[in-house]
Amino acid sequence: MPIDVQWAVPERVEGLEALLEALLEAVCEACFSLEGVENCGMAVRIASPDEVRELNRTMRSIDSETDVLSFPTARFRPGTTARDNLKRLKREYDPFLGYVNLGDCVISLPRAKEQAEAYGHSLERELGYLCAHSALHLMGYDHMNPGDRARMRDMEERALRLASLSRTEDFPMTDQMLFDLACEAMLRAYAPYSKFQVGACLLTRDGRTFQGCNIENASYGATICAERAAISNALTAGANHFVAVAIAGSGAQSWPCGICRQVLNEFSDDMRVICGQYGHDFEVVKLAELLPRAFGPEQLKGGSDGE
Ligand code: THU
Repeated sequence: MPIDVQWAVPERVEGLEALLEALLEAVCEACFSLEGVENCGMAVRIASPDEVRELNRTMRSIDSETDVLSFPTARFRPGTTARDNLKRLKREYDPFLGYVNLGDCVISLPRAKEQAEAYGHSLERELGYLCAHSALHLMGYDHMNPGDRARMRDMEERALRLASLSRTEDFPMTDQMLFDLACEAMLRAYAPYSKFQVGACLLTRDGRTFQGCNIENASYGATICAERAAISNALTAGANHFVAVAIAGSGAQSWPCGICRQVLNEFSDDMRVICGQYGHDFEVVKLAELLPRAFGPEQLKGGSDGE
């Protein structure tokens, strides 16, 4: 298992371990996917304060308790992170494990509980945050100067957002985060015929997001585009008005097709369209630029009496 969560604490979180393990795996995977590294893994050890203190003393010559420790396998040149060192990372491939082990993260469970209480958020969110922080350290991120700190903080928040652990009141959805969610959805596309994967993510006024991916079919015409798959997911969940949509294409920037423009127009007042290629920058336009002089629900408001 590329993400190896170990419970090394006597106390148990009443049957929540499996849930927390899945969450921590999701957080690590989100960090890896945001960084663009493949076939990587790490160990996450939920430990006692004594173990964390002992590790801090023996490995770092710091004789004190702390919340999280990170032990990277690979060291990268200062100023670079894993994405700049993919070749270097390949050399760390472990044939016995079957993946590149990025290193170990050790979290003090009592410390995480205390901090969750102090910040007024859930234990899940705090463990997720500590885990993302550590996964990023393992990939070369640091917080020694303000620029590096901001970059690391941004990645932490993007990873927590992908794992649905974000504090939306503190960190409203940004275009970058919405595009990340579209990229994540893109990876789930079913596109064996065109090989062109598309992911979409809709945003509602109250901050809810709904993802979709393209779903192709052997009878080509039955294909569903990512945008309309996202619309189906949203309407099924009771959301029917959107302020933005992000779209990511695998091979190129994927502007919505004509049918999708028309369908998006049905459920928005001129939404923002955030569009880019996976792994590249995105552009932002208004839907009216893509569908000028649209025919929509407004036109039918007056009804037709047939005269
Ligand atoms: N596709 C979308 O998902 N959205 C669009 O707006 C344009 C096209 C998909 C459909 C098909 O699976 C593939 O891209 C190639 O046309």
